[in-house]
Amino acid sequence: MAKKLYLKTYGCQMNVYDSARMSDVLATCGYINTTNPKEADLIVLNTCHIREKASEKMYSELGRLNKIKIARRENGKQMLLAIGGCVGQAEGKEILRRAPYVDLVMGPQNYHRLPSLIHEAQSHSLVDIEFPKKSKFDYLPEETIKTNGENNISVFLTIQEGCDRFCTFCVVPYTRGSEYSRPVVDIDSEARRLVDKGAREITLLGQNVNSYHGQSNVNGGKEFTLADLIYQLADIEGLDRIRYTTSHPRDLTADLIGAHRNISILMPFLHLPVQTGSDRILKAMNRRHTVGYYQRQIQSLRKARPDIAISSDFIVGYPGETDTDFEQTLKLVKNIGFAQSFSFKYSRRPGTPAAEAKESVPEAVKDIRLKVLQKALNKYQTKYNSSTVGLTLPVMFERSSRRNINQLVGKTPYAQWINANLPNTYLGQTVDITVTKANNSRLEGESTEYRNLTRSNIMSTTSR
Ligand code: SAH
Ligand code: SF4
Ligand code: F3S
Repeated sequence: MAKKLYLKTYGCQMNVYDSARMSDVLATCGYINTTNPKEADLIVLNTCHIREKASEKMYSELGRLNKIKIARRENGKQMLLAIGGCVGQAEGKEILRRAPYVDLVMGPQNYHRLPSLIHEAQSHSLVDIEFPKKSKFDYLPEETIKTNGENNISVFLTIQEGCDRFCTFCVVPYTRGSEYSRPVVDIDSEARRLVDKGAREITLLGQNVNSYHGQSNVNGGKEFTLADLIYQLADIEGLDRIRYTTSHPRDLTADLIGAHRNISILMPFLHLPVQTGSDRILKAMNRRHTVGYYQRQIQSLRKARPDIAISSDFIVGYPGETDTDFEQTLKLVKNIGFAQSFSFKYSRRPGTPAAEAKESVPEAVKDIRLKVLQKALNKYQTKYNSSTVGLTLPVMFERSSRRNINQLVGKTPYAQWINANLPNTYLGQTVDITVTKANNSRLEGESTEYRNLTRSNIMSTTSR
């Protein structure tokens, strides 16, 4: 009988991609996925360490899962409990100390070793967080996305991992290691396989994706930039949309800005985190650019692709952030008018340079700043969404609506979610939709073509 795997994913899109690849590896040892932890022979938590709350989630989940493990043991059944992802990498043995019933702790670079790790974990608990010399991508089996599944229309493809930027607040350079770019041929063939299986939109992933510099087989192994890679992938027949995330403003090169001008299937949306609008705090964070530089980058992007929508991440309450610093963030928000954003209270992460700071912003002040910032960001997001009402936009439909069976859910080129009345046959297709309504997080729209189509069907049946 097949063994069952319960895999739970926290954190960023890269973890979503990794979880799919872990399922692929484990499928080679006879595991099939289940959504019920009670019937699982193996549980893997793919964890996130970015903020304190994210890693605490893992420990509360572990307590719950251990109860299931004990109950299964009483029924004579084994259950292995494995921790992967960034908490695994960052805390290693500490996890076994706090939760001795865990069988396996591993880091994000070691998933290709899962078959032997699982085997070993059956006899004793173990930790594997050593960074391997060769990339896991050289050993992982080919991805096995299912054909015609709703989840396969818009897919992720990791092209770059790790980060060498060392922003002072961030754990990623420690949990994911130094930058590694996959070779162009591997990415190209993975993209083609994904498209063959029904993918129409690919989001290229990397912790610092625009620092991509992978080996190609052009001109005896010329290094490709992200822009070079996108030009190549844009030729894949059947691929309708390309996106990439997450970018660092310093690595937004002129050729990438040019790609936004020249490649029609590169979507006019860019997540370009700025974190703060204060030069002083940017410097303290080691972001290595000024607010002026960021604004000039946005200007160049808008010149190349006037309709491009910009999104960002913000941190409030970084050590030493004053009211004046925070006001500068609000000023930047007003100047740029972000189409979407994520904002967080600074969370002190052990092992990062910022964790050593003597000063700190009181929690209550962070709370207020976050509220004020989110109110402003929401205002601009709503304003942006409202500005698209009345426009007719090409929408790619990705899944059916959970609330209304007659509706499909898709994305506009500007990464806005939109619902429209359409039958399932439109899944995976790009349809012209006129936006009829908007709020802060969603749009509604209708397809004139489909409405006319159903009308003529009705007319022909009634006249018969
Ligand atoms: N590579 C991306 C960000 C990855 S982490 C970049 O360079 O922008 C995603 C977001 O989490 C960051 O942009 C930042 O806003 C937030 N973040 C990271 N560390 C944090 C911390 N210690 N406290 C609060 N937010 C943090
Ligand atoms: Fe973290 Fe992004 Fe900075 Fe890298 S560039 S250290 S991932 S915030
Ligand atoms: Fe979290 Fe690791 Fe991603 S810390 S945000 S899962 S890179």
